Amino acid sequence: MRKQIAAANWKMNLTLQQGEQLLNDIVAAQNTLNDNQLAIFAVPFPYLTMAQQKLNGQKNMFVAAQNCYNKKNGAYTGEVSVEMLQSIGIQYVVLGHSERREYFNESNQFLAEKINICLEYNITPIFCCGESLQIREANTQNEFVRKQLTESLFHLSAEQISKIIIAYEPIWAIGTGKTASNEQAQEMHAFIRQQFAEKYGETTANEISILYGGSVKANNAKDIFAQPDVDGGLVGGASLIATDFVTITNALK
Ligand code: PGA
Repeated sequence: MRKQIAAANWKMNLTLQQGEQLLNDIVAAQNTLNDNQLAIFAVPFPYLTMAQQKLNGQKNMFVAAQNCYNKKNGAYTGEVSVEMLQSIGIQYVVLGHSERREYFNESNQFLAEKINICLEYNITPIFCCGESLQIREANTQNEFVRKQLTESLFHLSAEQISKIIIAYEPIWAIGTGKTASNEQAQEMHAFIRQQFAEKYGETTANEISILYGGSVKANNAKDIFAQPDVDGGLVGGASLIATDFVTITNALK
């Protein structure tokens, strides 16, 4: 049975002290997650170790990096390698967030290289995909997302693909307060799963967790997560408020 996941994306927010307080509050308020549920916290690089210490001993709560580089090591000033992340015990990395695609020109091919290196080091990528408003208005979102999946992931084996978490994040819904409707989310998630089924077979496709991202809030998480192909969410703004994130985690199937 595929995992149901609430993933927090702090982006470039909070001081160390604010981050510590937030995790303290979440740990204090969080009900124990069941075997099939995960909470993952994608925090800025300087807070990875702090977050691991705060979550140490908490069932099914993990820390993720928000990015990594596509090279193993070397003269790449300012970059962080997968090996570095592995050496401090990180198990998840968010890749291909629309903000990285937009502001740092990350291409599907570049992301494929990052995916490969993560898998080589046994780190699970949380791979983000999703279309802009312009693409949605032209009704070409399926082709666009299919291309993202094909160019970044479809070189992988079935065994490798089953280790990836997908986050579908329509760009027009990120940080805008405008969520995709439950039907729009379900429709795209089913489409994504179908792409995996065609390439890797139904069994593999049914094992892949597909998260929805884009203005997931405490008051809409339950309805979105209830959709059959939505396996939780990647949460930005609402993950910075302890009670909201706990409510969102409690909304997991
Ligand atoms: P949001 O961000 O929840 O603030 O819309 C989601 C994301 O970018 O991952």
